[in-house]
Amino acid sequence: MEAVVESEGVTQYIYFFQKIIYFFVVILALASSFAFGYDPSPLQDYCVAINDTELGVFVNGNFCKDPKEVTSNDFFFSNLFTLLDTNNQFGFNITFVFIDKFPGLNTLGISLAYGQFAPRGVSPLHFHPRGTEMVILLEGTLLVGFIASDQNNNTFFYKILYPGDVFIFPIGQIHFGYNIGNTTAVVLVAYGSQNPGVTAISNTIFGSNPPINPYILAKAFQLDIDVIEYLLSVF
Ligand SMILES: *[C@@H]1O[C@H](CO)[C@@H](O)[C@H](O)[C@H]1NC(C)=O
Ligand SMILES: *[C@@H]1O[C@H](CO)[C@@H](O)[C@H](O)[C@H]1NC(C)=O
Ligand SMILES: *[C@@H]1O[C@H](CO)[C@@H](O)[C@H](O)[C@H]1NC(C)=O
Repeated sequence: MEAVVESEGVTQYIYFFQKIIYFFVVILALASSFAFGYDPSPLQDYCVAINDTELGVFVNGNFCKDPKEVTSNDFFFSNLFTLLDTNNQFGFNITFVFIDKFPGLNTLGISLAYGQFAPRGVSPLHFHPRGTEMVILLEGTLLVGFIASDQNNNTFFYKILYPGDVFIFPIGQIHFGYNIGNTTAVVLVAYGSQNPGVTAISNTIFGSNPPINPYILAKAFQLDIDVIEYLLSVF
């Protein structure tokens, strides 16, 4: 009899312990979701950015406008879907709406873009250093893809999108879109940062300022120096 009571006590003790552990796991999970967020979380309802370029100091984000001076227009962006001129070497054009164009996004961790691809147009290989991207195809037929890092064997993940389809480019992964249709392809894009940034691979490598020594590039890409000189002249 005594032994049974004792074993019940032990069972209760174990349940209590399990509850404590679950509690800490939940707390840790919540804490880490804050600690690993890419853009800092807001500490007020809103912090509409002000143009602070003349202050000569830099903060991780932008200063807030006086909340008393905030108006509805700070949260409003008009005419995103304007016709873009895709008559350029890539057959592609995009309107990025990051924090510099939309002050109401400050501290909120999102931004967007609207892009158009002419038939056979391509968004040159690039990545966003600070934000994951979600692309939504509105019109046309678009091949999209990203290439995973060395750790994941440089796997190429790709898909042909039709209107209404969505694809994700995880933060920092090199990606592109290519219009395989005969009509303009139109995309709406969302980013998980107010300022995801854009690093275009060819512009960065062959258009750096000052230029990288062509011998270094020739060695790195295992290309003839003439080809490198040509690429340096193009970008
Ligand atoms: C993109 O389209 C806009 C609006 O037509 C135009 O002003 C701009 O020059 C175009 N950019 C490129 C790179 O073609
Ligand atoms: C990468 O390739 C290696 C060697 O074939 C394999 O063992 C590993 O599982 C692959 N990793 C991924 C993420 O595909
Ligand atoms: C695009 O046009 C080509 C040539 O006219 C045609 O062969 C092809 O089927 C068309 N593709 C689509 C997706 O309409």
